[in-house]
Amino acid sequence: MTTCKTQERFTVRIILFLLVLLCIVTGGCGGKASDQEETAEEDSRIKVGFSQLGAESDWRSANTASMKETFTPANGYELIFEDGQQKQANQIKAIRTFIQREVEYIVLAPVTETGWDTVLQEAKDARIPVIIMDRKVDVQDDSLFTCRVGSDFELEGRKAAEWLRSYTEAKGIGPEDLHIVNIQGTIGASAQIGRTKGLADAAKQNGWDLLAEVTGDFTQAKGREVMASLLRQYENINVVYCENDNEALGAIEAIEAAGKTPGLDLTAGEIMIISFDGVNEAALDCVRQGKIACIAQCNPEQGALVSDIIHTLEQGGTPEKISYTEEEIFAVDDTVKEIEIMGTVYPVTILD
Ligand code: AHR
Repeated sequence: MTTCKTQERFTVRIILFLLVLLCIVTGGCGGKASDQEETAEEDSRIKVGFSQLGAESDWRSANTASMKETFTPANGYELIFEDGQQKQANQIKAIRTFIQREVEYIVLAPVTETGWDTVLQEAKDARIPVIIMDRKVDVQDDSLFTCRVGSDFELEGRKAAEWLRSYTEAKGIGPEDLHIVNIQGTIGASAQIGRTKGLADAAKQNGWDLLAEVTGDFTQAKGREVMASLLRQYENINVVYCENDNEALGAIEAIEAAGKTPGLDLTAGEIMIISFDGVNEAALDCVRQGKIACIAQCNPEQGALVSDIIHTLEQGGTPEKISYTEEEIFAVDDTVKEIEIMGTVYPVTILD
């Protein structure tokens, strides 16, 4: 049904394009030709409603920018952007507004995984394809969304944990000597679920001491607050796994305020920080200074990938149900040059 509607729209667009061409060639639209051309051009734009979940992190700002830079009138799009301000209810409302406004595509970056079945069914009933971007949705029926583009968050978590395992092994630090706290992301978000699982599984396999898991909501302020409280609760923390860079920056502030040193030398009493994203320049500088030991990249440049999907659909094609973004691992110390997960080798990019 969706394909049918897409094809109808494609045909309408072709007709509009030919009409504009006719006006230009024949000059046959009288004095108002340019107005009509402009209106026809506006009508031929693909109307996309984008529900972004919020603006909690530098990653999120970069992701929003990637979408806004791609979905421009010059690229043939009309973008309706709605910021959900971290509330699923706002995102559901935005999707309903997009349906009323008869957009041709809906792009959803969902704040959490569950709770989307009803509204996605409404979009499906309205024959509007929904593209999930960034985090996942957990729905009973996968046909409620057309496809998803985003990160493999569990793989990111496994990469970070494997880097930690390889590094500490190379330095002769026993697994029983790692006392880890996890500052988690927004609870129920795919980025939190996947990264938390990556660490928890590795802790179990390697016999690491996972002292605590507490949410820092992906923000710097909460990261600082949570870290300060963890330092008061546990004297022996020597690894902090932050589920994004904003939390890591907050954690560094709290560690330094407590008179401790973020760094790679656990034997000298330093506290090692592991993080995710690699977007924020301040965080990348912290890697260069050794204050963050390793960042598993989360790539926010997803606008062009979503646009490619729309072009595929416009031409009657079927995009991949799930496409993952390419992501690196950043560190400053070159002790670990590569890591291997399930037979795949991932090189570590050493920052200078
Ligand atoms: O879903 C991606 C995550 O959300 C990013 O790692 C984080 O910074 C953002 O808030």
